[in-house]
Amino acid sequence: MDYQDLVKRFSLEGQTAVITGAGRGIGRGLAMALAKAGANIVVVDIIEENAKNTAALLVSKTGIKAYPYVADLRNPHRAKEYVKDILGECGKIDIVINNAGIQVRKPALEFTLEEWNSVLNIHLTASFAMAQAVVPGMIKQGGGKIINIASINGVIAIPNTIAYTAAKSGLAGLTRAMAVEWSRFNVRTNAIGPGYCRTELTEKLFQDPQRSEWVMGRIPMKRLAEPEDDLGYVAVFLASEASAYINGQVIYVDGGWLAS
Ligand SMILES: NC(=O)c1ccc[n+]([C@@H]2O[C@H](COP(=O)([O-])OP(=O)(O)OC[C@H]3O[C@@H](n4cnc5c(N)ncnc54)[C@H](O)[C@@H]3O)[C@@H](O)[C@H]2O)c1
Repeated sequence: MDYQDLVKRFSLEGQTAVITGAGRGIGRGLAMALAKAGANIVVVDIIEENAKNTAALLVSKTGIKAYPYVADLRNPHRAKEYVKDILGECGKIDIVINNAGIQVRKPALEFTLEEWNSVLNIHLTASFAMAQAVVPGMIKQGGGKIINIASINGVIAIPNTIAYTAAKSGLAGLTRAMAVEWSRFNVRTNAIGPGYCRTELTEKLFQDPQRSEWVMGRIPMKRLAEPEDDLGYVAVFLASEASAYINGQVIYVDGGWLAS
């Protein structure tokens, strides 16, 4: 195999990727990596300014096409409408990354059902609804890839995150179920399970010296994950032909946390 063949297997040139929650944080890092691999990116976010900023950054750094798209994924029943709009703009969707998410941290006994539902809704229901809305188009065009952003919390439980832990555990099952049902249409589904990154989602935790020290103490590599460098290129791999036979898996990218 020559170098060009190797590059081709990892390339996403000409493909269109929809990434939810790409206005900042991990989603923005994933978007940058996929853009560097040649994909055009639809930057979906509830915060318009962030969606536009990410899209502008992608265009200026990589020269790909980027489309900001404002959507509130707390309304999963609108997924079909979102996907119709996006298809109207881009013509096709080859890759979907379900990344948008929220966290509610409090003791399980104090959780309201509204809080529980809000976390389950965006991590689990919206991921299902977005995939269900996109897959018919993927089938028509001969295939596609879905990547769900799970978490090490899908395997281990950390106190005060009961809904998030349940949602991320569910997302691992959802990933397997999608893979099993949609493989025959050449639609592959996998997930990435990040360890800790410093983003707005985790900022409060890292501002607490005791909890921050506890987290760092659990990571064998003694550093946090970087959205683009550590997670983004794993997403490129899972979206590309280099991972052609990987299906229904959660790839944990955690600096060794789960192994320790
Ligand atoms: N940060 C970590 O340590 C970590 C670890 C494991 C998994 N994750 C997962 O990674 C994903 C991204 O998290 P992050 O750390 O980048 O958080 P973040 O808060 O920085 O980013 C989340 C993004 O989702 C968007 N979003 C939130 N609610 C939305 C809605 N209703 N509709 C549309 N967009 C919405 C936000 O505007 C934001 O841009 C989440 O699924 C999270 O659970 C994060």
